[in-house]
Amino acid sequence: MLIRPWQTGDEHLVAAAERHLSARSIDRRFCVGSGGRLPTFYLRHLEGGPRPEWDAQVAVDDGGRLCGWAEYGRRPACSPAADLAVLVADPWQRTGLATALVRALVPRMAAAGVRTVQADVTGANAASKGLIRALAGPGLRPTYQDGMVHYAFDLAVVPFAPLTV
Ligand SMILES: CC(C)(COP(=O)(O)OP(=O)(O)OC[C@H]1O[C@@H](n2cnc3c(N)ncnc32)[C@H](O)[C@@H]1OP(=O)(O)O)[C@@H](O)C(=O)NCCC(=O)NCCS
Repeated sequence: MLIRPWQTGDEHLVAAAERHLSARSIDRRFCVGSGGRLPTFYLRHLEGGPRPEWDAQVAVDDGGRLCGWAEYGRRPACSPAADLAVLVADPWQRTGLATALVRALVPRMAAAGVRTVQADVTGANAASKGLIRALAGPGLRPTYQDGMVHYAFDLAVVPFAPLTV
């Protein structure tokens, strides 16, 4: 499994990965009823590629298939707080992939000036809660905002992989 920064053209790998994504996984990522399709607005957003407001880390298998990706987004582009989101295709879930993706993304977020990580998940999303616990430690307490479970933690608490570009 190759874990690397997002490259121009990876939006095509995301579109191709849709067939390995259950509707439940897409619903949970976007907190909507997706009908099993990645949202069109999201695919358009990816076409913009890496920029100060957004960047991602991807996992690609030996066959060139995208198995998962972790991304952060922030507004304004110089904000020290960024939202983190991860989507791992169903066949590769619970293999440590999300953890590896985020740990690889962390040094790049730090280099881009991010200091605080935020994540909003639905209350029923046990996998996301497990991931955040694995990243930020068991002591982190969420707050509740607009019906979502909201996490915010210091980027520095996340164990990270060495920076690769
Ligand atoms: C959430 C998600 C990214 C986790 O990906 P993953 O590759 O399966 O996660 P990992 O294998 O790295 O596991 C990370 C931790 O979460 C725990 N975990 C993963 N799935 C879990 C589940 N279904 N229930 C409980 N804990 C779970 C793991 O045990 C691990 O904890 P540990 O290190 O203490 O053992 C994946 O389930 C997914 O893509 N879900 C749909 C999209 C989504 O909800 N994204 C997050 C919101 S933006």
